[in-house]
Amino acid sequence: MLGHLGHETGRSAGGAVTLPAPVPLQMRFSETVRRRRSQRTYTGESIPLAQLGTLASAGCGVTARRDLPDGGQVLLRSTASAGGLYPVDLQIASYRVQDLDRGVYLYHPASHELWLTGDGTAADRLLETMAAPEEVIMSSQAGALLLLIARPWRSMRKYGPRGMRHALLEAGAIAAHINLAAAALGLGSVDCSSLFDDEVHEALGVDGIYEAVVHAVVVGVSG
Ligand SMILES: Cc1cc2nc3c(=O)[nH]c(=O)nc-3n(C[C@H](O)[C@H](O)[C@H](O)COP(=O)(O)O)c2cc1C
Repeated sequence: MLGHLGHETGRSAGGAVTLPAPVPLQMRFSETVRRRRSQRTYTGESIPLAQLGTLASAGCGVTARRDLPDGGQVLLRSTASAGGLYPVDLQIASYRVQDLDRGVYLYHPASHELWLTGDGTAADRLLETMAAPEEVIMSSQAGALLLLIARPWRSMRKYGPRGMRHALLEAGAIAAHINLAAAALGLGSVDCSSLFDDEVHEALGVDGIYEAVVHAVVVGVSG
């Protein structure tokens, strides 16, 4: 029963892209924390696919597998999750990533794959859902937009209303890992809550009730 508590759901409108193994992050943790800074301007250069995969893995990649007495297996991730229920998914709109088509993808932690969920037009529509103007965040030159989609009921089923709190806390932890990994890789990133929520939901095909965007991180080659 692989993925007993790990993520095993998701829609795939097309093929899966196997990501290269995450790049080892060599920077000292204290230096990474010191260097982390919101970067809002980008050169328009492409980011390597392995670096994008490293960000995804730092945010919610599987880092350990634990066997269960019943023969199943629990997939544990880089960020903690209340009850191991993982109510936050990572979707990635790719704009300038080497060896990756412009499109929208769901990160599948168990396989370290990206599952195509939308084409280039869908990715472009997501860019238009950003409320932050180009003068504030130069999103037109970004490499990717990483969207954190919460499905709070995954946690609320067990924890009641507190599960909503868990989903938001866990989204924050995922974003923090992504930003720190970006800093360690020398990429630019910025948290971005300036999104037109309804438009994001429409572009992603989620209902905004049972599944909703809670945060986003813009990533690119900073300059
Ligand atoms: C939850 C959250 C939402 C944010 N949303 C935006 C945003 O929409 N636009 C933006 O330019 N920066 C956004 N930021 C970045 C903050 O403005 C930034 O972290 C703050 O100015 C401190 O700067 P620093 O990150 O360089 O330390 C956000 C940060 C957080 C934590």
